[in-house]
Amino acid sequence: MSTTTPTPAAAPAARKKVTTRTFRQKKQRGEPITMLTAYDFMTARAVDQAGVDSILVGDSLGMVVLGYSSTLPVTMEEMLHHCKAVARGASAALLVGDMPFMSYQVSVPEAVRNAGRFLQEAGMEAVKLEGGRERAEAVRQITAAGIPVMGHLGLTPQSVAQFGGFVPQGKTAAAAQRLIEDAQILQEAGCFSIVLESVPAQLAELISQQLAIPTIGIGAGVGCDGQVLVIHDLLGLYDRFTPKFVKQYRTLHRDIVGALAEYKAEVEARAFPAAEHSIYMDEAEWNLVTRNP
Ligand code: KIV
Repeated sequence: MSTTTPTPAAAPAARKKVTTRTFRQKKQRGEPITMLTAYDFMTARAVDQAGVDSILVGDSLGMVVLGYSSTLPVTMEEMLHHCKAVARGASAALLVGDMPFMSYQVSVPEAVRNAGRFLQEAGMEAVKLEGGRERAEAVRQITAAGIPVMGHLGLTPQSVAQFGGFVPQGKTAAAAQRLIEDAQILQEAGCFSIVLESVPAQLAELISQQLAIPTIGIGAGVGCDGQVLVIHDLLGLYDRFTPKFVKQYRTLHRDIVGALAEYKAEVEARAFPAAEHSIYMDEAEWNLVTRNP
């Protein structure tokens, strides 16, 4: 870390706190809702300062931060640890914590208890969980406890083993019909919003029109009420794999590797640190040292 005096960044204009009510109002006004993932303090600050409506501390954490090959190994403790950092970095965005695999599937009381930990211990304001009709009772009980729930349908990554890979969902008429029903069931169970992941654009648009609550799409076309992306994908930070539905706005992994290689070359060539990165003693003081060894 630099030891020079940091230049204070211009304070971003304070904006109004985003809540689940804001989500509803934006849908009613036909204004797109923006959401991005973040997993740490600095990224949360950047997303918040960019004016994005909501931050999802996704269990994609497992893949893009912790290096697992799926989201399945992510634990409650790992999620809470990263949620706390995000909560310290963001002030206006609505904060949604993603419930990890096996934190809500075993029993409804366990789901309620774990959902509560996201708010009570980690500063989140809502939770997200994956699945349709099979999760309706958990959604009902979590919302009854006063915790806003975001649903997640389509390519739900915690079911990747069941799907046989990261493949789009809802592409047959029967599968599409089931997704339409699931979306209705989740709305009736109390979800304030639903993520639609990797489903045909026509289907996502139809579901969005049918629901009173906002849909947030990822790989689900422009007809959703909002959009979410994994921030590492958007910034080009994750070099292992980029889904077809991602637009890379930057190629930061390449930039980082370039910067690090420059650093290595300059250290090896003794070009870094230069005089301006070094501290010098006053000459008179230094003379006392060299004259009296
Ligand atoms: O974990 C995550 O980042 C997600 C988004 C892809 C919606 O669930």
